[in-house]
Amino acid sequence: MGTRFPSAAASLVALWVLGALVGHRAAAAEPVRVGVILDLASVAGRRWRTSIRMAVEDYYAVHANSTTRVELRFRDSSGDAVAAVSAAVDLIKNAQVQAIIHGAQTAAEAEFVAHIGGRAHVPVLSFSAVPAAPTPFSVRASADDDSSQAAPVAGVLGNFRWRAAVLLHEDSPSGAAIAPALADALRGVGASVAHRAAVPAGASDDRLDAVLYRVSAATTTRVFVVHMSLTLALRLFRRAVTAGMMSEGYVWIATAAVGEADALSPEDIDAMRGVVAVRRYAPPTRQAADFAKRFTARLQRDNDGARDIPVPTVSTLRAYDAAWAAAAAAAVEEAGISGSAFEPPEGSTGPTELDQLGVSATGEKLLKALRDTAFDGLAGKFRVLDGKLQAPAYEIVNFAAEGPRTVGLWTRKSGISPELDNDGSGEGLKDVVFPGLEQSDIRVPKGWAFSPAGQELVIAVPVKHGFWEFVQVYNDTTTNRTVISGYCIDVFDAAIKALPYPVYYRYEPFYGIGGGNSGSYEQLVDLVPGQKADAVVGDVAITGSRMAEVDFTMPFTESGWSMVVAVQSQTATGMFFFLKPLTPALWLASLAAFIFTGFVIWVIEHRINPEFRGTPLQQFGIIFHFAFSTLVFAHRENVESNLSKFLMVIWVFAVLILTSSYTASLTSMLTVQKLNPSVTDVNYLINNGDYVGYQEGSFVAGELLKMNFDQSKLRSYRTPAEYADALSRGSDNGGVAAVFDEVPYLKIFLSQYCDGYTMAGPVYKGTGFGFVFPKGSPMAPEVSRAIVGLTEGYDMGLIERKWFGAPGACGGDGVDASTASLTLWNFSGLFLITAVASSIVLIVYLATFVYRERHELRAAEPGSGSVSLKRFRAWLQHYDRKDMTAPHFKQQFWSDSSPSTNGSSHGKKRERAEQEEATAMRDFGGPGASSLSDHSRMDSASPLERKGSGELRTPFEQRIGEGATEKRASTPERKPSLKVPQNTEGRKKLPLSP
Ligand code: GLY
Repeated sequence: MGTRFPSAAASLVALWVLGALVGHRAAAAEPVRVGVILDLASVAGRRWRTSIRMAVEDYYAVHANSTTRVELRFRDSSGDAVAAVSAAVDLIKNAQVQAIIHGAQTAAEAEFVAHIGGRAHVPVLSFSAVPAAPTPFSVRASADDDSSQAAPVAGVLGNFRWRAAVLLHEDSPSGAAIAPALADALRGVGASVAHRAAVPAGASDDRLDAVLYRVSAATTTRVFVVHMSLTLALRLFRRAVTAGMMSEGYVWIATAAVGEADALSPEDIDAMRGVVAVRRYAPPTRQAADFAKRFTARLQRDNDGARDIPVPTVSTLRAYDAAWAAAAAAAVEEAGISGSAFEPPEGSTGPTELDQLGVSATGEKLLKALRDTAFDGLAGKFRVLDGKLQAPAYEIVNFAAEGPRTVGLWTRKSGISPELDNDGSGEGLKDVVFPGLEQSDIRVPKGWAFSPAGQELVIAVPVKHGFWEFVQVYNDTTTNRTVISGYCIDVFDAAIKALPYPVYYRYEPFYGIGGGNSGSYEQLVDLVPGQKADAVVGDVAITGSRMAEVDFTMPFTESGWSMVVAVQSQTATGMFFFLKPLTPALWLASLAAFIFTGFVIWVIEHRINPEFRGTPLQQFGIIFHFAFSTLVFAHRENVESNLSKFLMVIWVFAVLILTSSYTASLTSMLTVQKLNPSVTDVNYLINNGDYVGYQEGSFVAGELLKMNFDQSKLRSYRTPAEYADALSRGSDNGGVAAVFDEVPYLKIFLSQYCDGYTMAGPVYKGTGFGFVFPKGSPMAPEVSRAIVGLTEGYDMGLIERKWFGAPGACGGDGVDASTASLTLWNFSGLFLITAVASSIVLIVYLATFVYRERHELRAAEPGSGSVSLKRFRAWLQHYDRKDMTAPHFKQQFWSDSSPSTNGSSHGKKRERAEQEEATAMRDFGGPGASSLSDHSRMDSASPLERKGSGELRTPFEQRIGEGATEKRASTPERKPSLKVPQNTEGRKKLPLSP
C-alpha cells in the first residue's frame, strides 16, 4: 500500500469541489464504522476531534472513488478510564465499529481500551503519547513507547554531562517499562538511574508530596526524569513547585506525554517553567503548514469563534494521520472490509456486557491492513513496525513563559544537535533555561546537591592527640570557640574554593578516636554511610575495605607505610678506607690533572731548564715526579719560564684545595660514627617476639595482625614524643623495637627527632590520605579534580610548607650524611680552571716557540718519505735542543767559552754536553745516532755556525744539509772557530749572506 498525502494543490477549492463528488459516491461506497474515543471535555480532545474529522474528509476528497467510506462514531471518555472502557464496549456492541481510534489521556485508559479491542478483535489505533503496553489488536500511531524515548532522554543527560537521574514513572506496567531501556541508554552516556519511584495515576496531593520528599531526601541527584501521562505529570509539577523543587539547581526532563501536551493552561505552563521534554519530531512540511491554516479556521468555527487557538501540535497532526490511516486501511480491497459483521462470542457468555461482546469478522484483516499502511503523514512518515510507529527523530523542547520552545533535536544516527540538518556536528542543545532561572540566565545546574536534604554539608573531622600538623581541634580560650585547623583542613578548603560553585559546609569534631576509648578511623569513616556526616576530612587513609563503603577523593599525601626504629652507631673501617673520601671518578680525574699539568710544565721547561732534560725515561720520571711531588709541595725542580710559574701557582692552589678536602673528608669518616638501624627485618621482630607500636585508631594495627604479629605485642601511641620514648626504651624495657605507621606520620616524627631514629625495612604499599564521601557522590570526582589542580599549581606546595616546613630541614632518614664521598662534580670547577690554565699556557708556549723558531722550522726540507712526518720529526728534533738563549744555558756557554777558562776544561765540558745530547737523541729515536750527535753537538756548541769557511749558518740550516752537513760536522778541522756573537739579542738578526 502506499497512498500519498494530498499536496498543497489540494486546496480548499479543490476539496470543496471534490466534496460534492464524495457526497455522490458516498451512497455507493460501503460504510466502515470507526469509533473514536476522546476526552471531549478537554481542549486537546476537541482539537483531536476536529483533526480526525478533517483527515477523513480530506482522504475521501482525494480518494473520491474509494469503495469504502469510514463513518466516524465519537464517544466521550471524559478523561476517565472507566468511561473510556464503557465507551469502547458501547462502540463495539451497539455501534458495531470495526476499528477504534483512541486519544487516551492516561496509561490505564489506553491499556483498558486496547484489551477490550483485543477481546472483540477490533483494532485499536492509539495516537496519544501515553505510556501503554502493547496488546495483540493495538496499533500505536505514536512512536512514544518506552524504549524509543529512553535514548533521547539519555541524550539530554549526556549533553549536559549529568551522571545520574531519578526516574519518576506512572505506577503501571507500561510506566515502569521505561526503566530498563532508560538504564541501558543512560549507561551509554556514562550516567545511571540513581533512584526510582512509581507514582500511582490517582495519587493524592499528599501522596505526591511524599514521593517528592522521599526522592529528594534519598539521593543527592537533582535530575528527575518524568515518564507519566500528562494529567499526572501536571499535578506532580504543581506539587514540585510547592515543595521548592522547581527552583534553581533542579532539572526536570519529561517524556513525550508532557512534550506533546496540547493546549496547556497558563497555570500549567507556569508550573512547568524550565522543564525539558522530548516529543516526536514533525517535519515542517508544506502540507503541515496548509493543514495548520485550515485547522485553525475550522477549530474556530467548531468552537464558536474562540480566539487564542494555538497552531496544531504534533499530537493533533498524529490524530489526523491516525484517521487517515484508518480510512486508507478500510479502503484496501483485499482486506474485504465491506460487508463486515460481528459474530457472537464463542462458548457460554456471562451476564456482563463485556461477556456479550461479539468478535469482529473483519478485525484481523483490518489490523493487517493498518500495519501495512505507509504514507507520508503530517507528523512524518507513517509506518507501523511491531505494532508501533517508527520515530526517526525527536524534538527537545524547553518550557518557557510562553510555552514549549524547541532547543534541539535527537536522531538515532546523530544524537543531540541544535538543528536537524546539523548532521550531528556535536554542538549540543541551544540555550536551555532551567527551573528557577531568569529567561536570560542560561546557567546549567550541576545535577546534584551536596547533601540530600539540600542543607550545608556536615563534615566530620577526627580529634587527634598528636600529629596535629594534619588536623587539630582545640578550644580557643580567648574566643571560647572550637578551632579546627591543619594541613588536611587547608587542602579541603582550597579544593572547595577551586570548585566553580559555592559549597556550604561546617566541620564537626569526631571525638571517637583514642583518648581512652577504643574508637578508630573505621568508625570515623562509617559516619558517612551511616548518614551521620556528609563527608570526612582528615588524615584518613584510602584502603580497600573502606572503599567498599564510601568513595574517596584522589590522595593528597604520600602513600605507603613502614617502620621507624632506633639507630646504633658504628665506626667506619676497612683496608682501603683511605680511598673512600673521593669517588673513583674523582680519583681518576685527579690523576689525569696531575699528569697533564706535569706534561705542560715539562714542555715549557724542557728547552730552557737542565732539570727537565735527560734521557726520555728520565724525562718521563720528571713529569710524574714533578706533578705528584706538588701533592705534598715537595717538588725539587725549579721552573724557569714565567708561563710555568703562572701555571704552578694555579696548580698548587688546586692541589691545596684537593688535599685539604681529602683530609677533611677522611677525618670526618674516621671521627664521625655511622648510624645504622637497630633492626631492618620485620620477620626478625615477629620471631623475636618484640613489642611493636602503631598509631592509635589506625588501620596499621590490622595490617600488623595480618603480618602475624601477636595482638599482645602491639602497643598504641599517639604522639611523636611517645614514639621516641617507646623506641628509646626498647622492647625489653616497656617500649617497642619499632613503630609502624604511614609514611607522612613517620616523616613528621623523624623531622622532630632527627637523631637516634631512622626509617627501616620495606615501605608497604598504600594509597595515602583522601577525603571521604558517600558512595556514588558526585562530589568525590569534583573534589578530586580540584586536588589535582592544587597539586599541579603552587597551592599544595604552599600548604605543605605552612604545616611541615621546608623539605629537608632535618636529615630525615636519621642516617648521618656527612660520610658521603667527595664527587667529581664537587671539584669540576677546580679542574676546569686548571685544565683551561694548562691549555692556555701550552698554546701560548707553542705559539711563541713556532713564531720564534720560524726560520729554522721553515728551512726544514723533508727528504724521502712522508713530508709531514719528516717535517714534524725535524721540528721535534729542533724542539728537543737546548735553547742557548735561555739564561741558564747562556751562562753555561759564557762560562764554557770564557778566555779565562782553560782549554782542556772547556773542551771537556763541551764534549760532555755533546755526548749528553747525542745520547738523548739516540734514546729519543732520532735518525742516525752519529748525525744527531753531530747536530746536537753543533747546536749545543753554538746557535750559529759558519757556512763554509768563516760563514755563519744556523744550526738548523746546517742540519738539513744532510750528507754534506754530516760530512762537514764529522770533520774536526771544519769546525767553525766560535766567535762571540756581536748581537746577543738573537741569531736571526745576523746577516746570513753567503
Ligand atoms: N591514618 C589512619 C587511618 O586512616 O587509619
